[in-house]
Amino acid sequence: MTSDAPAQQRTLVLVKPDGVRRGLAGEVLRRIEAKGYTLVTVELRQASDELLAEHYAEHAGKPFLAPLVEFMRSGPVLAVVAEGHRVIEGFRSLAGATDPTVAAPGTIRGDLGRDWGLKVIQNLVHGSDSPESAAREIGLWFPAL
Ligand code: RTP
Ligand code: MG
Repeated sequence: MTSDAPAQQRTLVLVKPDGVRRGLAGEVLRRIEAKGYTLVTVELRQASDELLAEHYAEHAGKPFLAPLVEFMRSGPVLAVVAEGHRVIEGFRSLAGATDPTVAAPGTIRGDLGRDWGLKVIQNLVHGSDSPESAAREIGLWFPAL
């Protein structure tokens, strides 16, 4: 059977520990919903070393990996699966550039983030960067989906 419905896509969003600590989890969800994407699942989680090592496998060997994992273990994260046509690039656009100091105003990182002079960039959110990453990351965080 054929359908004219646009193909849906899913992405993994994490509100990182800095975002949860600052009470910005709701603001991130609000922006995802206001943009028109659908929340598939939302869960406050304490990430384990094992999960984070797999999640950040692409950064193995980089100097910021150890401080990044330490930061990501410093408190709970809000793990979110969001859905919609082109949601992967759409959420990356909502999030803004990695460095919050130069992220454009209007973006999550540009409006709400800054450089705190710490060992690792604390930039409030993570978003999958490709369909392959999204499938891999959703499988890691939400194996039942
Ligand atoms: P994310 O994966 O969190 O959505 O962010 P991204 O694609 O914009 O950045 P990526 O290059 O994948 O890096 C992952 C996270 O590592 C931290 N980072 N720190 N030089 C540094 O201190 C440094 N570089 C990266 C950031 O938290 C970044 O989001
Ligand atoms: Mg990334």
